Amino acid sequence: MMDGFSDDPFRKDVLAGLSKPQKSLPSRWLYDARGSQLFDEITELPEYYPTRTELKILDANAADMANAVGTNAVIVEYGAGSLVKVRILLDALENAHAFVPVDISASHLKAAADELETDYPELLIQPIASDFMASNLGARLPEGDGRTVGFFPGSTIGNLSDAEINRFLTSVRADLGDNAAFIVGLDQPKPSDILVPAYDDAAGVTAAFNKNILARINRELGGSFNLDNFEHEARWNSEDSRIEMHLVSTADQTVNIAGESFSFTRGETIHTENSRKISRAAFSDMAAACGWRLEQTWTDENDYFAVMLLGAD
Ligand code: AVI
Repeated sequence: MMDGFSDDPFRKDVLAGLSKPQKSLPSRWLYDARGSQLFDEITELPEYYPTRTELKILDANAADMANAVGTNAVIVEYGAGSLVKVRILLDALENAHAFVPVDISASHLKAAADELETDYPELLIQPIASDFMASNLGARLPEGDGRTVGFFPGSTIGNLSDAEINRFLTSVRADLGDNAAFIVGLDQPKPSDILVPAYDDAAGVTAAFNKNILARINRELGGSFNLDNFEHEARWNSEDSRIEMHLVSTADQTVNIAGESFSFTRGETIHTENSRKISRAAFSDMAAACGWRLEQTWTDENDYFAVMLLGAD
């Protein structure tokens, strides 16, 4: 089709995902401006323990991490957001050489990097506007005398499939070279009565975050979703050790998007996100298959969240 929109990756993913027997949408499309704002609100919710738990772990162990990283390091943050977490590491490091935030949003990145520049005048800050999953960032990294250290907090790795994790860990290993380290945040398996409320909060922020993808389809692709005809559901899938977010159709209905129509039966769902809870042992095996060895792990008193330090093998 030569309508000028056929190459739009969002349109492609939506039309393909809603044509599957189990309708689904890739979770990365949850993050338009409104979605990113709602996600920031999620991180402050009482039920959403990962952010505050990871911050506590970073605070308590920053000196240890800095020791493992050493001097003159180049720090590369993949999918850098507000840069709150990396400041904890930067504050603890002695003579970090450079910081490279990698983020798809150029404007977001520029604002965050400018702010950082004022606070760390000695640090070379070299932002890269790119999808963090893109490979071949290695040639664009500054050279330092110390380790090149990837930083990937937030347990975003849990939103990826096995194949994506493998591809990502392999390309980061290639980007960062033989003297590399990689610091990764990883939410841990735990009872469903803690997990489910974290993804279905009482204030309804996660529900709004999930439903926002329908508003985005309406706005960007001329969709006809009635948001009142869908409900948010957070489901614990114990077999696959993951929280699944779904949007449940509350009626038999037909929705038009970009000239195509999609029918829903009452109770049918659109699967919008997986948030995998990968144990430390399972992650260490995944990393080993991609050229990494586990150097250190830090966790909280409940073992709710782990920060793992990998080294190039
Ligand atoms: C970004 N990511 C790690 C979040 C998570 O916990 O999987 C996304 C999220 N989805 C709903 N709440 C938070």
